[in-house]
Amino acid sequence: MSSSIDVLRDIAASNAKTAIKLEREGNLNEAIVYYYRAITALKKLIKMEERRSIKKIYEDRLKQYAKRVLELLETVKKEDKFRSKSGAGEKDELKKMIREAILIEKPNVRWSDIANLEKAKEALMEAVIWPLKRPDLFKGSRRPWKGILLFGPPGCGKTLLAKAVANSVNATFFIVDSSVILSKWLGESEKIVKELFRMARENQPSIIFVDEVDAIAATRSANEHDAIHRVKTVLLTEMDGMYAKPDERVLVIGATNMPEILDPAFRRRFEKRIYVPLPDFNARREIFRIHLRGVAVSNDVDFNKLAKLTEGYTGHDIALLVREAIMRPIRELARAGLLDQKDAKPRPVKMEDFLEALKVVKPSVSKSEIAKYEKWAREFGSG
Ligand SMILES: Nc1ncnc2c1ncn2[C@@H]1O[C@H](COP(=O)(O)OP(=O)(O)OP(=O)(O)O)[C@@H](O)[C@H]1O
Ligand SMILES: [Mg+2]
Repeated sequence: MSSSIDVLRDIAASNAKTAIKLEREGNLNEAIVYYYRAITALKKLIKMEERRSIKKIYEDRLKQYAKRVLELLETVKKEDKFRSKSGAGEKDELKKMIREAILIEKPNVRWSDIANLEKAKEALMEAVIWPLKRPDLFKGSRRPWKGILLFGPPGCGKTLLAKAVANSVNATFFIVDSSVILSKWLGESEKIVKELFRMARENQPSIIFVDEVDAIAATRSANEHDAIHRVKTVLLTEMDGMYAKPDERVLVIGATNMPEILDPAFRRRFEKRIYVPLPDFNARREIFRIHLRGVAVSNDVDFNKLAKLTEGYTGHDIALLVREAIMRPIRELARAGLLDQKDAKPRPVKMEDFLEALKVVKPSVSKSEIAKYEKWAREFGSG
């Protein structure tokens, strides 16, 4: 079965495997990154898994990796102290770190790649695009929002929306990989965050996109690594700095599928909180169409029926479902031994392919989880 749970389980396993291999090769910095990625996937799995016994297995594994990360960090710190005595060029080191942790680019997602989500799109227009287009109108008490949080179930378009925003405005766009900041460069992460905001101010208007912001903005706890504690404090301070200077055009967009674990201090600094829900009927129909662009589709495919049958599916689940369905004609071609013939075309995808795919691709988010998101949206969302 190819549900998101399976995908996450694979991600956790393969990252952990890589981590162990890197560790064995003595590549500790890299190993930490992969452990951290495995931990992030496990956290999600634990949230999604409803069977207690299996949840427990994941929790134990998570604890084990987290402990290992802390041990590795200690070792790395000692080695670094040793190395810094030999006086490496600190500026270059910082530049290298920034390059690895932060991506400066224009993503190639367009609004038309995203089905519906009208409310979220409107909120982003208002909060990001208009103020960038007409800064003269967004002054004084009409000052623009500086912290925007996209939250909702996994696989429903949060990352897509942030990328489409970046693509449609003329602003410098920084994508921050929380797992790299929090792992490989943990000892230096405060410096990276400070430098990031400095660069954003220098290149304004700019947007800093922190995907999976929960990794960096989770509730602070007494027994966390003090480097993690410090990077949170720096991020809070930098965000305060943004608010203190209304004329600066720097904006932070965060995305999370675990809004409930955000520290209230971060929650408050994301003034505008936009819910990105499961796709409704029309959105699902549209997602099918978007993902079938460029594929030959038979006349018997009934998109209304498909949209009805996929109630409770996320956008990502539908994308997986489409991928499964459109593989079927290819498999037939292969079975007939025609794959090597360049002019042999697969038949158009039929309704039956989707019905078969529906048997194997199941929704990845449960009703009770959706209820939790909705509750959070009622309590903390911005309408
Ligand atoms: N509204 C949508 N329109 C078109 N495709 C969608 C939509 N929502 C999700 N998808 C599909 O699902 C994939 C995952 O979406 P995305 O990465 O934006 O999810 P996300 O909300 O950021 O999830 P996560 O919380 O797991 O990061 C997309 O690459 C796309 O294929
Ligand atoms: Mg995402």
